[in-house]
Amino acid sequence: MLDIDITEQFSRALRNSRKVAVLTGAGVSAESGVPTFRGEDGFWRNINPMELATLEAFSRDPETVWEWYLHRRDTIRTIKPNPGHYALAEMAELYNDFTLITQNIDNLHRLAGSDNIYELHGNIHRNRCMDCDHTDYTESFSKLPPPCPKCGGRFRPNVVWFGEMLPHETIDRAMKAAYQAELFFTIGTSGVVQPAASLPLIAKQNGALVVEINLEPSEISHICDIKYHGKSGEVLPAILRKIRELKIMSIQEK
Ligand code: OAD
Ligand code: ZN
Repeated sequence: MLDIDITEQFSRALRNSRKVAVLTGAGVSAESGVPTFRGEDGFWRNINPMELATLEAFSRDPETVWEWYLHRRDTIRTIKPNPGHYALAEMAELYNDFTLITQNIDNLHRLAGSDNIYELHGNIHRNRCMDCDHTDYTESFSKLPPPCPKCGGRFRPNVVWFGEMLPHETIDRAMKAAYQAELFFTIGTSGVVQPAASLPLIAKQNGALVVEINLEPSEISHICDIKYHGKSGEVLPAILRKIRELKIMSIQEK
């Protein structure tokens, strides 16, 4: 079991913060076996995911893009949350105001018991109609996306592709949570994709203590006050244990 050192400043923030926000990226699911985007395992048939996750690729070659999504859905269906996801679900119980923002589309936070999740990039298990906006969980193993059951229009995976806007309400709420946070965690994200990558900065500029958990330094490490370079599935449970100790101590002190 990993034990971590925490500074006085971090300990105070863990104990006293009322508003906590968390941004997660592909790294938080890596230990569950979901390939990250920018890691070597992110490639499929030697194709860079950045070349598949676009509306242009889908319009030009829907069969290939759809097959990639069927493959990823299959992989994701068999995997389970890891101790990092569970620790975040438990952390939410310890704070009055806890916001979980994710760039992941794999549903693992929900399976671990988190609720009220802001899924910035959508959810891979859903489809959306390009004509009437209807969304559903229809399973399909056909070579091409099935037609929309409502209007017969064109279905696509309900995820945000490169160059597309994020769902308005979700990003607005996420920004507000970052703005108001006293303590902000950025976990398992390379911090290169906007606007998600600006959330830790918004938090920092508005007075939050920003904590990074990542295997290695990221593009946003330089703005983080506290950095843990390790696996989120090990560091998060260690932080959760610290929070429990600190909260128990503060109850005893009162
Ligand atoms: P990336 O693949 O860019 O980054 C994953 C990060 O996780 C890297 O910084 C790794 O060092 C780190 N990492 C890997 N394993 C880890 C572990 N066990 N514990 C902690 N950290 C670990 O993924 P994202 O930052 O999520 O967007 O990518 C952001 C967005 O770019 C994705 O949501 C997707 C992608 O293109 C869209 O599809 C719109
Ligand atoms: Zn439709």
